[in-house]
Amino acid sequence: MRRYSRVTGTGSYLPPRRLTNDDLARQLAEKGIETSDEWIVERTGIKARHFAAPEVCSSDLALQAARPALAAAGLDASQIDLIVVATSTPDMVFPSTACLLQHKLGAEGGAAFDVQAVCSGFVYALSVADAMIQTGAANKALVVGAEVFSRILDFNDRTTCVLFGDGAGAVVLEASETPGILASDLHADGKHAGILCVPGHVSGGKVLGDPLLKMDGQAVFKLAVGVLETSARAVLAKADKTAAEIDWLIPHQANIRILQSTAKRLKLGMDKVMVTVDQHGNTSAASIPLALDAGIRAGSIVPGQLLLLEGVGGGFTWGSVLLNL
Ligand code: ACO
Repeated sequence: MRRYSRVTGTGSYLPPRRLTNDDLARQLAEKGIETSDEWIVERTGIKARHFAAPEVCSSDLALQAARPALAAAGLDASQIDLIVVATSTPDMVFPSTACLLQHKLGAEGGAAFDVQAVCSGFVYALSVADAMIQTGAANKALVVGAEVFSRILDFNDRTTCVLFGDGAGAVVLEASETPGILASDLHADGKHAGILCVPGHVSGGKVLGDPLLKMDGQAVFKLAVGVLETSARAVLAKADKTAAEIDWLIPHQANIRILQSTAKRLKLGMDKVMVTVDQHGNTSAASIPLALDAGIRAGSIVPGQLLLLEGVGGGFTWGSVLLNL
C-alpha cells in the first residue's frame, strides 16, 4: 500500500516585542533616516512586525512553535523521528538549529538537519520530510520554519529593514494511508543569487564581506510573481487539480502586492488567500507555517480543505506544496 504524509498538528510563535511602522519610523528618525507608516503600508501592506530579544535565537522560537504543534498532534517529542528546520538565521554555523531544537525538546536519536532555501525554506523542508515519510525513512516528522531576520537587517537601509520580522511556525507530519500531501514542486536558479543575499562569511575567526541583507526589490518582485504562478500551475497539474478547487492559498508573506498579483494570475479572490504580512512582516522561512497556524487557530482553515503553500526567496528559490488538510 502506498504511504503518504499528512499534517496532524500545527503551532507558531511570535516574540513579544511588537513594533508598529510608527515605532520603527521613530527609531530610524533618530538616525536621520526617513520613513513612514503610509509609505510602508502602501508599498508592502505591512503594519507591524515582531523582533526577538538579543539573547533569543531561532531554536528558541522554534521550540515555542514546536510545542503547540506536538500538542495538537497528540505526540510527545520522543515519538518524532525526523526534525527539519528551515532557517537562514541559524543559532550557529554548526551544529544545525534542528539538532539544538531536538535537545531543547528533550528528544534524542531521530534524524535532525536544517534546510537553507531562504523564504522558500519551509516548502523545501516540507517536501523533503514528505519524501522521507513516503519512502519509509521517517514516520513522524516535525517541520519548522524559524527566523531571527532582525539580526541580519541593515537598519541604515530603509528599503529593506522595514520589510522583515522574526517568528517561527511548525507542523507535525505523519505517515498516513490517505493523502495528505498530494504533490510538491521545487526549483532554484542560482544565477539570481545577487538580487537577494547576505554576502558575508566567516573565515579565520572573522566575518569577511557584508553580513547584512542586500536586495534589489524590483528585480525580486518581478521574478517572484512569475515563478509563483508557474509553480502553482505545475503543482496543481501534478495532482490533477485546478486553481478553482483551492480552498486556501497560503503564500510566503513577502509583500501584499506580490500576494494580490499571484491571486489575480490564478483567478483566486483575496478571500481565499491567507494574509498575515500586515501583522508579521516578512518572516522568511517562518511565514508560511505562521500563516497556516493562524488560519487553523482562527477556525478559517479546517480539515478536508485543499491548501496550496507557496514560497519564493533568495537563491533564487521557489516552490509549492499542495495538500489536503
Ligand atoms: N520609506 C520611505 N521611502 C522609501 C523607503 C522607505 N522605507 N524605501 C524606499 N523608499 C523610497 C526610495 O528611496 C525611492 O525614492 P526615490 O523615488 O526618491 O528614489 C522610492 O521610495 C521608491 O523606491 P522603490 O525601490 O522604487 O520602491 P518600490 O515601489 O519598488 O517598493 C519594495 C520597494 C517594497 C522593496 C518593492 O520593490 C518590493 O516589494 N519588492 C519585493 C521585494 C520583497 O518583497 N522582498 C522580500 C524578500 S524576498 C521574498 O521574500 C520573496
